[in-house]
Amino acid sequence: MSTDPVTRFRLEGRTAFITGASSGIGAALAEAFAGAGASVALVARRVERLDALAQALRANGTRVSIVALDVNDTAALPRAFDQVERELGLADIIINNAGVARPALFLKTTRESVQETMATNFMAAWDICAESARRLVAAGRPGSIINIASVLALGTGPGYSAYSASKGALVQLTRSLALEFVRHGIRVNALAPGWFVTEMNEQYFASEAGQAYLKRIPPGRAGRLEELVGPALLLASDAGSYVNGVVLPVDGGHHAGLI
Ligand SMILES: NC(=O)c1ccc[n+]([C@@H]2O[C@H](COP(=O)([O-])OP(=O)(O)OC[C@H]3O[C@@H](n4cnc5c(N)ncnc54)[C@H](OP(=O)(O)O)[C@@H]3O)[C@@H](O)[C@H]2O)c1
Repeated sequence: MSTDPVTRFRLEGRTAFITGASSGIGAALAEAFAGAGASVALVARRVERLDALAQALRANGTRVSIVALDVNDTAALPRAFDQVERELGLADIIINNAGVARPALFLKTTRESVQETMATNFMAAWDICAESARRLVAAGRPGSIINIASVLALGTGPGYSAYSASKGALVQLTRSLALEFVRHGIRVNALAPGWFVTEMNEQYFASEAGQAYLKRIPPGRAGRLEELVGPALLLASDAGSYVNGVVLPVDGGHHAGLI
């Protein structure tokens, strides 16, 4: 065994299934996990984006699978996992990152919008947890599932009823599965990012109101995508082998002042 403790963060021999890899947090984590030695399955609807990322990763020697999937298409899910198994091997790191935010005050939130938010942020993660864990259990293999929750699962604010409820549900799913799967060697954890500027919110953060908001929150700035990498690697790798059922805020302390 190496005496360098940092080697426990490496992901050689692992296969990561990353939803929402076509932009923002998912793309950043895919790049980072590839850099740490994993094979990566890039999963999203916008395949042309995945193609571009795949090209860059393959140029550095990473094995990549491009998976065109709407995470709400339950019938397509087994096929997506079959494809990854064929091309890369069994996925033993699963990152449920695909998500939507449709902020609106409660009385202006439509039933369709709540359903879309719950379907993508919660039910799709549920289905992917089920599909991936069934395969790992059948193969007798350990794994790590990371659900991307939000600081808005820990506290909330006006306009986030649907989003916060979906991420709150994801947090409780994370804890339940951590308890159920531990005997199979599958750990289930969540990251709860604070604000990171991505396509989901870049318009708001480019505005004066958005800039002023960032100055008001405890860290006084948005996070940088690379600041999610260390926490995600901890949860995914052997470095976090006894970390299970946690919801790890990565928010510069924002959550401490939310409640
Ligand atoms: N940015 C933040 O401040 C922040 C904070 C806390 C939590 N989060 C969470 O982090 C995750 C990533 O968000 P982001 O900030 O990186 O936003 P983003 O850049 O808008 O990325 C969202 C990703 O989700 C994918 N996606 C959405 N609906 C999908 C569907 N039906 N099927 C497949 N993929 C779908 C999109 O891919 P396609 O459109 O190509 O399918 C895209 O890659 C989300 O769960 C979000 O709630 C973000």
